[in-house]
Amino acid sequence: MSLVKTEKIWHNGKFIDWDDAKIHVLSHVVNYGSAVFEGVRSYHTEQGPAYFRLKDHIQRLLNSAYIYRMDVPFTLDAICQASIELVRVNKLGSCYLRPIVLRGYGDVGVDPRGCPVEVYLACWEWGTYLGEEAMRNGVDVCVSSWNRPAPNTLPQMSKAAANYMNSQLIRMEAKANGYDEGIALDVNGYVSEGSGENIFVVKGGSIVTPPFANSALPGITRDSVMTLCRELGISVVEQMIPREALYIADEIFFTGTAAEITPIRSVDRVRIGSGARGPVAKRIQEEFFAITSGKKPDRHGWLTMVAGVPSGAAVR
Ligand SMILES: Cc1ncc(COP(=O)(O)O)c(C=O)c1O
Repeated sequence: MSLVKTEKIWHNGKFIDWDDAKIHVLSHVVNYGSAVFEGVRSYHTEQGPAYFRLKDHIQRLLNSAYIYRMDVPFTLDAICQASIELVRVNKLGSCYLRPIVLRGYGDVGVDPRGCPVEVYLACWEWGTYLGEEAMRNGVDVCVSSWNRPAPNTLPQMSKAAANYMNSQLIRMEAKANGYDEGIALDVNGYVSEGSGENIFVVKGGSIVTPPFANSALPGITRDSVMTLCRELGISVVEQMIPREALYIADEIFFTGTAAEITPIRSVDRVRIGSGARGPVAKRIQEEFFAITSGKKPDRHGWLTMVAGVPSGAAVR
């Protein structure tokens, strides 16, 4: 993922220059991973850029912080408003927004209460996560030798920076072995999720996805896909998935803000279905992108328009 610098970053209520968004090396977050964050996309529409489910992402950010007893000194509405303003200030069209709440510089002990809670918002241009080709033809994945964290260890319903030490192991192992991504099992051996994606398994016309209790993040794309499936008359249930169900699936796909809806064409070099994007994934992609692009009405109120960005701003 290449990072394309923009002009401004929002920090605790003020826009600062990109290069000035620095923290001290002894900040609590550097020593102990004490940050929670989000990833939100804004999409190009004919009416200008539009954030996808901005309020839901910022609510999840606040929930993640709440689990870790972090008092965020800004309201949901204030952070949403600042996120909109940031796209305008940086004159961006479609982009990726990264809100971060972190424990800053203060005490050096594990107890974080002597360290300030700081909020940053950054955004930049960004294309597909696993590649355009992957969206059409699917990706090759493995089942990781690394499990997701057990319940009551690192809470997986909080999108905390520390969780991504686990995701890094999953992703690095997959890449080192020639795969695009890894699927992690939970501590009991049931399918959990990818290093940064939720997972859906299609069999006989109906779809299953692991419940949160299998150490999966409450993904906002996951929720959107479940809503769309129900509207399209496709049965979708949350259910524990044994590893072997992956190999005999008709289709499997990942969902996530970064991955959007990415089909999986093989698991551990075992071909899934026809070994290409399946009809269910294609149908859901079409519906999803019709809404995010504004080509179909935003019937769920998922889009937040960013008014005032000049036409000609970056478009994916
Ligand atoms: C571990 C993990 N699971 C699932 C997801 C998908 O969540 P969302 O659809 O809200 O982006 C993400 C991305 O945020 C993730 O990092």
